[in-house]
Amino acid sequence: MSDPAARLMKVVDVPQPGGPEALVLAERPVPEPARGEVLIKVAAAGLNRADCLQRRGYYPSPSGAPSYPGLEVSGTVASLGDGVTEFKVGDAVCALLQGGGYAEYCRVDAGQVLPIPGSLDMIQAAALPEAMFTVWSNVFQFGRLQKGETLLVHGGSSGIGVAAIQLAVARGHTVFATAGSDDKCRFCESLGARRAIDYKTEDFVAEIAKQTEGRGVNVVLDMVGGSYVARNLQVLATEGRLVMIATQGGAKGEIDVMRIMQQRLVITGSTLRPRSAEFKRSIRDQLLQNVWPLLASGRIQPVVDSVFALAEASRAHALMESSEHKGKIILAVI
Ligand SMILES: NC(=O)c1ccc[n+]([C@@H]2O[C@H](COP(=O)([O-])OP(=O)(O)OC[C@H]3O[C@@H](n4cnc5c(N)ncnc54)[C@H](OP(=O)(O)O)[C@@H]3O)[C@@H](O)[C@H]2O)c1
Repeated sequence: MSDPAARLMKVVDVPQPGGPEALVLAERPVPEPARGEVLIKVAAAGLNRADCLQRRGYYPSPSGAPSYPGLEVSGTVASLGDGVTEFKVGDAVCALLQGGGYAEYCRVDAGQVLPIPGSLDMIQAAALPEAMFTVWSNVFQFGRLQKGETLLVHGGSSGIGVAAIQLAVARGHTVFATAGSDDKCRFCESLGARRAIDYKTEDFVAEIAKQTEGRGVNVVLDMVGGSYVARNLQVLATEGRLVMIATQGGAKGEIDVMRIMQQRLVITGSTLRPRSAEFKRSIRDQLLQNVWPLLASGRIQPVVDSVFALAEASRAHALMESSEHKGKIILAVI
């Protein structure tokens, strides 16, 4: 551990874009919290698929954010910027970042910081922010999943997919999922999905029709994009909503406009990272009200696939790109 008094800290940065080996340990100045910000002494950082894109040079940090990756952390409050009253030094917290989580310290707007729910440890807490902000805003806010409605989650064993299944099941919804192997499908079902469909060997459109007696699902949370868009519209019930959050299967696809008109379908989507601090604070507040009690009571628990030391970030990225994981991959910083 580097000495904070020296104002330098260890980070994992990407001097040149490339494969997992492009991630290297470096030293950077310990950031100073600006007005309204919190400085967190990082205990653990969650990995996200977007970090792999950033490492390859396709998803640069937004202006004002550190160059090094990391969209979520857990840790303790080390110091407070002017005007922050909702936290105190020493509080155990987790936070959604603009970047810079692969580090011993990070600064973040206080509106993106949450207490660690219940008895979760730092590793588990680092698995929460990105998935919970993304799922809450996309499934419940933009997708407007209502009481009694059904949800299809693509990529059900991903960090995002696990959170979507868990949250929707805990709120009483019937959830279906897709995943890329029999083992991952059984895992999704162990989280409460009524039926998980192996997208490599089964036709999810036919299976959803069978499962819903032809009605379709009310909301689809999609991370595949172009290659799935036509089929996603086919699985939606009348007045269904398709919410798109990634383009792993390409950004372009063909849609049946007549189907949208006849079924009154809604196609929407979002990207979390560029949204304003005000938007993120409002999602944070909704999470505190609706999701943190489920975590505090143990009704839902983060699923951590594996933990790597900060210096092993390359191995962690290689695992994520192998897609062999189920749930979240975490970097332990201390
Ligand atoms: N828009 C936003 O604001 C936002 C925020 C956070 C995350 N995301 C996106 O959400 C996705 C998940 O993120 P993550 O960090 O949880 O990554 P992750 O754990 O690496 O998950 C990626 C998942 O995509 C699944 N997948 C790939 N092709 C598929 C297909 N054809 N059908 C069904 N599933 C497929 C993979 O399933 P298999 O391994 O089974 O093939 C894997 O579970 C990423 O694409 C990420 O960029 C978007």
